[in-house]
Amino acid sequence: MKNFKEQINPDKLPQHIAIIMDGNGRWAKGKGMFRVFGHQNGVHTVRKITEAAAEIGIQFLTLYAFSTENWNRPSFEVKALMELLVDTIAKETPDLMKNNIRLVTIGQMEALPEKCQKQLQQTIAATSANSGLTLILALSYSAKWDLTHAVKSIAHAVKQGTLKADAIDEITINSYLSTAPYPHPDLLIRTSGEQRISNFLLWEIAYSELYFSPKLWPDFSPEDLYQAILDYQNRERRYGKISEQVSEQE
Ligand code: IPE
Ligand code: IPE
Ligand code: MG
Repeated sequence: MKNFKEQINPDKLPQHIAIIMDGNGRWAKGKGMFRVFGHQNGVHTVRKITEAAAEIGIQFLTLYAFSTENWNRPSFEVKALMELLVDTIAKETPDLMKNNIRLVTIGQMEALPEKCQKQLQQTIAATSANSGLTLILALSYSAKWDLTHAVKSIAHAVKQGTLKADAIDEITINSYLSTAPYPHPDLLIRTSGEQRISNFLLWEIAYSELYFSPKLWPDFSPEDLYQAILDYQNRERRYGKISEQVSEQE
């Protein structure tokens, strides 16, 4: 029996994978440890999964690292997560360079502590010419925040006369989202067994394939990622059409 990686069809790779990294707290609790220990171990998984995705030729990987709603967690957990973020980005920059990975972010960057913003800006600038995987970190992000922000900007443009209300279409709306520069995810993975979206990319996942893994994020391995990709490759994306039309196109 071949392993999952060997069964992947390199010609049918998802161009963009998005992941809701969930289950760090439960993983730590299961080991009798504090939640922050789970986040620290979650960082190792981020590194392994990012490198595995880059290695097999995935072009875009979006990781949901901190949601708008996560600001409502106990302040010491928020603080620990922000510190972990700065430390990790600083430490990982050489490896991002080595692996030709470009880092970008989506979300309300101004809400992050100044130290985080500065470190992120540095690494984003340092990796901006890398041509391999684009790693999109969703930080202080929620889909409703992004959509609200977009609607406001569109309203301003209409008021100023640079945009006609009648000309607004899906392409216009898409162009005002923080995800505008990237293709929409082909595959959305959530770990930890929860089957919900938690205010992640609502507009962009309209036609994404959804995959729920029971593994807690610190336990999610490259083999689990390959298994999800294989599952994706065995699905038929019909976009509202019927099966015969889809197979004719191929
Ligand atoms: C995901 O793990 C990481 C973040 C949301 C920052 P959780 O911290 O949500 O872990 P659980 O879901 O409580 O186990
Ligand atoms: C979603 O996980 C947010 C991130 C993974 C960053 P949560 O753990 O915050 O989601 P809920 O609250 O269980 O839906
Ligand atoms: Mg959670």
